[in-house]
Amino acid sequence: MTATESSLEALSREDRRFEPPAALAASANVTAEAYDRAAQDRLAFWEEAARRLTWTRDWTAPLDWQPPFARWFVDGELNVAVNCVDRHVEAGHGDRVAFHWVGEPEDDTRTITYADLLREVSKAANALAELGVGQGDVVAVYLPMVPEAVFTMLACARLGAPHTVVFGGFSAQALVDRITDADAKVVVTADGGYRRGAPSALKPAVDDAVARCPGVRSVLVVRRTGQDVAWTDRDVWWHEAVDRQPETHEAQGFDAENPLFLLYTSGTTGKPKGILHTSGGYLTQAAWTHWAVFDLKPETDVYWCTADVGWVTGHSYLVYGPLANGATSVMYEGTPDAGGRDRWWRIVAEYGVTQFYTAPTAIRTFMKWGDDLPAQHDLSSLRVLGSVGEPINPEAWMWYRRVIGGDRCPIVDTWWQTETGAMMVSPLPGVTATKPGSAMGPLPGISVDVVDGDGVSVGEVGGGFLTLDEPWPSMLRGIWGDEQRYRDTYWSRFEGRYFAGDGAKWDDDHVLWLLGRVDDVMNISGHRISTTEVESALVSHPKVAEAAVVGAQDPTTGQAIVAFVTVRGTTTDEGDAFLQELRDHVAKEIGAIAKPRQIVLSPELPKTRSGKIMRRLLVDIAERRPLGDVTTLADPTVVQQIDDTMGALASRG
Ligand code: WT7
Repeated sequence: MTATESSLEALSREDRRFEPPAALAASANVTAEAYDRAAQDRLAFWEEAARRLTWTRDWTAPLDWQPPFARWFVDGELNVAVNCVDRHVEAGHGDRVAFHWVGEPEDDTRTITYADLLREVSKAANALAELGVGQGDVVAVYLPMVPEAVFTMLACARLGAPHTVVFGGFSAQALVDRITDADAKVVVTADGGYRRGAPSALKPAVDDAVARCPGVRSVLVVRRTGQDVAWTDRDVWWHEAVDRQPETHEAQGFDAENPLFLLYTSGTTGKPKGILHTSGGYLTQAAWTHWAVFDLKPETDVYWCTADVGWVTGHSYLVYGPLANGATSVMYEGTPDAGGRDRWWRIVAEYGVTQFYTAPTAIRTFMKWGDDLPAQHDLSSLRVLGSVGEPINPEAWMWYRRVIGGDRCPIVDTWWQTETGAMMVSPLPGVTATKPGSAMGPLPGISVDVVDGDGVSVGEVGGGFLTLDEPWPSMLRGIWGDEQRYRDTYWSRFEGRYFAGDGAKWDDDHVLWLLGRVDDVMNISGHRISTTEVESALVSHPKVAEAAVVGAQDPTTGQAIVAFVTVRGTTTDEGDAFLQELRDHVAKEIGAIAKPRQIVLSPELPKTRSGKIMRRLLVDIAERRPLGDVTTLADPTVVQQIDDTMGALASRG
């Protein structure tokens, strides 16, 4: 039995159940009735969800489905920014706080009401328009977690100009790849941001990238840290270009299928995919799920999503979903331990946070740091806790419930992807009796099916591959500039179904357990990185001949990157300095998040006789498990050698 199978056995015996709190259930936004309504008429259900938004032109049909291409709310028109901002001010909620922004340095905070947001977004839209940005022009955003990131995204949406946000931890090279693929004309960045107590520069990476991107006309620069920056005549300060703009901007409605954003994510090849999301369907599902799954009461709640805007969670559940619902949110700039390992709990207590949405890797880190830190703060305002990014192990789930939620708050484990745009599988906090570690089942209006290798449904109980067998409003509309790759990646493995790349299992109670990726995509702290991407980065180092990368289980980050490398020439006698050089090289090529936890040098890699690298064996080695079958290898002694090296490294600590 493999490790996955035995943990599966344990999971299917999980018989703890946690009923929704009675008071929450009694006044929940969504009740069990929604499942029935959606089952009777899925499209009518989503039309009703779409009516929660404000449209400047009604749609003529809910869906036009030419597999694998969907158009939702056909011919409908809306302005996404107006839905997120203006309409709340018009409804008399201009004084409501949209963001309690908390900077990393102590006492560096900003309160942004919906009226403030309207002014800032309008000015930013006017400034971008002045820089020549109009409908269809892609704007690249490379910013820390500052309010200007939100202003920029909404300003783009207001102009009908798609944004592509690049996580600030990505390298100049990653930025070049994305700017080039998206053909971005304008980049919005900052001098730097705060990272673990110190200013950390961002603009040098942009300078380096833009020097290699002749299509970029302007770089708009937010002054955040005040550090010195190099300057060219392409560069414009935000405070000079934006602050002098008129405080109003007249918005127009755009087609429901107008591109809203591109977000690059790792696939099984080295080249990241530009996932395309459009407007009406995306906003409908982001807003509905945020309202339903967090049971959001915009008048009284204070919601906090800890994700960075550079990831899809930051798009859908820090910006678009919450703002469309008129929510009050916390936005925090820094790391969880900036100013003390209880920083997050201090923020929860200070702002009276009611819904808290984070990733399992963070929860496990806090578990390690101990119960006493959260215990020092009053967390009694919390009422719903969310998890996203990777499977949450039952132990971490129970800790989250007990220590953070005071045994009082329901946990919503939400499964979705950059591609799905919004939550797909999750409990509803006022309806579902949850099992620790399970995302439970599809949300109303969503249809999932677990299939075997031949694409045959396993039915109500059984394990296999997770597929989505009906289109959904916030689904990706394609991969930017690569229709064939869109078909190949998602729609060709199983006829007529979207293949998510995840394994899943229905247990005996028809409750769904997500089992992680089944392809060559790793999940490091909830972030997707492909093995091929890291391998190409390693091989681009002049001294590296060949590299094989695997994701090995890690108690904190879920998976960790382990690289097996053969060097050019005859010598393998390279010291720690060389290993560090390789790790830094990967950081330069992709970003610090892709740095291997461990690099093992080896004179050869284990290959089958047909030359295919045996990753499964390398995973066994990386996880220090007894080695599986080696008889199909071209040279079985190679594996033993690598295993010995790894053993020596492990015993060295
Ligand atoms: C992959 C998508 C969804 C936003 C953050 C990640 C894994 C995500 C869960 C969950 C088990 C999960 C899947 C998925 N994943 N949420 N609740 N339980 N696995 O977005 O970078 O597009 O990654 O993250 O493997 O395919 P992403």
